[in-house]
Amino acid sequence: MKIKTYKHNWNYNLSNGVTTIKSRKKYPLSFLSFFSKKFNILSRNKEIEKDPSIIYEYFVSKKDISVQTDRANAFSNILKRYGIDFNGKTILDISGGNGVFVKQFLKFGAKSVTNTEYSKDAVNFSKKTLKINSFEYDINVDKLSSVLKNEKFDIIMLRGCIEFCEDLIPLTKELKLISHQNSIIIFSFIIPTLGAALRTQFDQYNVKVCRPAKFIEHHFSKNDFETKINSEIFLFDRNYAYQKLKWPYTPFYIYYLILALFKVHKNNYPNDFHSLDCKTGLLILNRS
Ligand SMILES: C[S@@+](CC[C@H](N)C(=O)[O-])C[C@H]1O[C@@H](n2cnc3c(N)ncnc32)[C@H](O)[C@@H]1O
Repeated sequence: MKIKTYKHNWNYNLSNGVTTIKSRKKYPLSFLSFFSKKFNILSRNKEIEKDPSIIYEYFVSKKDISVQTDRANAFSNILKRYGIDFNGKTILDISGGNGVFVKQFLKFGAKSVTNTEYSKDAVNFSKKTLKINSFEYDINVDKLSSVLKNEKFDIIMLRGCIEFCEDLIPLTKELKLISHQNSIIIFSFIIPTLGAALRTQFDQYNVKVCRPAKFIEHHFSKNDFETKINSEIFLFDRNYAYQKLKWPYTPFYIYYLILALFKVHKNNYPNDFHSLDCKTGLLILNRS
């Protein structure tokens, strides 16, 4: 089932729910940006095309530093409720943004924290300003074990980044190399829903593959990772989800929503995809 949005095509596999996202060759109304800067969002940004990591420049802003501090507090409370103990643990946050999030875990008792990032600015910030271990890492190009010099971690978090990973197989092999028998792996990820497709429709560098929790769980269980928790979380700062749902963008939401509704109806409302929610899945795995 192919769902079109302003900048992307979402190809939803009806048998397993795995959805691959590809950029459309042309954005329908990009010419409008010639008339007013207000419409820049409707056209292609050449700089982002050259270096997509620049979209994460906001990671070193005061606002994101405060968001990440609050997010770490909220997330650690959720994890504690699920019986995860950080005391004396070595923690790795993959694609952890500016590093503020993982650094907070030192306050919660962690022995050491490490961050990896796709954005160079974020790596520099966490190394120079926060003084924590930080490494540049592209999930589709680099090997985690080489980047992290074969170190093993007690807790490995991958929050909001496996949707950028084109193939889970090499990532899984690398996760095995940097974990030990008692390690815990924590994923939070976008579940493929119509809501997620609509909310990211103006993002030029967008997620590449959204997978339902069941699929991720099954993949890892075949690779010696056992599910401890399979849940969904609703983080307090989720109002970003529809921040562009206002004039002059409202008509695009309505237009692409109506087109999509015909498709999902025709395909018998496939599991997950018909939902307008932008769900965040939470999976906690143990090495088995
Ligand atoms: C939605 S943000 C999540 C940031 C942070 N983990 C959080 O939850 O607040 C997406 C993250 O994926 C990272 N990312 C994007 N493309 C990537 C790639 N090719 N390889 C590794 N990470 C990538 C970004 O740098 C960013 O940190």
